[in-house]
Amino acid sequence: MPIILPELDPRSTSTTSEQISRFYESAIDDGRVPIGDRLPPIRVVASRCQVTRATVQDAYRRLADRGLVEGTVGRGTVVLTTTAGGDPASNGSARLVSPYAEAALRRTKAMAGAPTLASEQACVANFAELQPDDARFPIPEWRAAMDAVLEHHGRELLGYGHSAMGLDELRELLARRSEASDPALRGDQLLVTAGAQQALDLILRTVCSIGDTVVVTEPSYHHMHGLLRAHGLQVVQVPFGPDGLDHAQLTSVLARPSVRLCYLMPTFHNPTGRTLDIAQRRDLIDAVSSTDVVLVEDEYQHSLRCRGEALPTLRSMDPRGRTLTVSTVSKELFPALRIGWIAGDHKLLEPMAAVKRFMDLETSPLLQAALVEFMKRGSFDRHLQHLRVELGRRHEALQLACAEHLPSECRVTDPEGGFVAWLEMPNEGQGDQLAELAVERGVRVVPGRAFDLDGSPSRGVRLSLTRATVEEIHAGVRVLGQCASELLQLQTAAQPFI
Ligand SMILES: Cc1ncc(COP(=O)(O)O)c(C=O)c1O
Repeated sequence: MPIILPELDPRSTSTTSEQISRFYESAIDDGRVPIGDRLPPIRVVASRCQVTRATVQDAYRRLADRGLVEGTVGRGTVVLTTTAGGDPASNGSARLVSPYAEAALRRTKAMAGAPTLASEQACVANFAELQPDDARFPIPEWRAAMDAVLEHHGRELLGYGHSAMGLDELRELLARRSEASDPALRGDQLLVTAGAQQALDLILRTVCSIGDTVVVTEPSYHHMHGLLRAHGLQVVQVPFGPDGLDHAQLTSVLARPSVRLCYLMPTFHNPTGRTLDIAQRRDLIDAVSSTDVVLVEDEYQHSLRCRGEALPTLRSMDPRGRTLTVSTVSKELFPALRIGWIAGDHKLLEPMAAVKRFMDLETSPLLQAALVEFMKRGSFDRHLQHLRVELGRRHEALQLACAEHLPSECRVTDPEGGFVAWLEMPNEGQGDQLAELAVERGVRVVPGRAFDLDGSPSRGVRLSLTRATVEEIHAGVRVLGQCASELLQLQTAAQPFI
């Protein structure tokens, strides 16, 4: 069997690694490298293309992430399937699940979660969970709203509903809650979904086709990474740092013809807590203005602002009508409600509602009606007010504790709301080490590599303030400060003398 080697195009706007992975993808699809055969050894491709081995490794990893090949120690990289999910020579009927489902499964298994405490170990602070404090769930108020709707409308609410778009009254109330950031938004521009996660899935199903490219921030929300894999999409990451997105890099990525969608969290970004200011929002709208790319802004914590002014949604700034806003009540109220929504132009909402109808028929009318009742009684606003005050106290405590306990080489973001902040060590990989060391001393944080598409080493850790009280924040950050100092000392000790 001849060795199949790629030719690189120096004028291509794709990276070398993308070109190599695309070359082998088509070689697999057209049978030049059949299922069961091996891709050429990494060193051979690296030397032929005059690139580093890491570049070829990256290309092979892309193929592995999509389920097309599998790297095995001692056997090299073996071809498992084609993009159509089978052997071109056979009809692929022996395969039980699609390569995309397999890729999602692999990502789930490989996903780095927060290190957990040993069962006997005392918890000093839990900065890992990103779900509201269960001690603060407004259970009596929710029960009252539920009782009221069952008593007055029980018969109709326990049947199927009649709108794939969601209850009109709920859509109107939700639109009004976005008034500060999107004053012109109307209820009929909203589609109610089963949480923000379904909203994201629905958008990908409606807008993207297999093989399309989606641009995400680096780092980004980890369950979106899994979803993109499950949809068979290519992903390009654009760094999201203290100055926002790199405008030049974003513009050049968006110009690629395969890019269909760009996903980001402009407010209280997960995992960094960063927010794009108004100038950065304008730059972003400017970058998409000459493209057809659909922009998806995930405003998953939009009402959890405890300082500063609300910023306009990207949707309200995009004259093309191609931006969708996703939101949810999971973080403000409780996730078990599974109620979220998409705000957007009718020409996008209508096909999404049609797809949704065939996915789940509708979002529970009973829970939607109870949420309407809960809002009309003022219970949601009262709950949010308490939450914002407590959140403000926790952010303040975090900043004070970090100033007191962290070595000067560390940085922590200072978000004006939301539940998350990002602590950064000076070097790549040190965030992951910090997470491992801290858990041995009773403090849980999520290592930054969990938010990287390929699980690459990170300098950061995500700190969530949902579960840690002010006292626990002080105690937890003290431990993080000690761990960070020890890691920095180790690093200094390991540096060679010059
Ligand atoms: C950025 C982001 N988007 C969406 C979701 C999913 O939210 P929901 O519970 O509404 O599905 C989460 C959950 O943590 C999230 O962090």
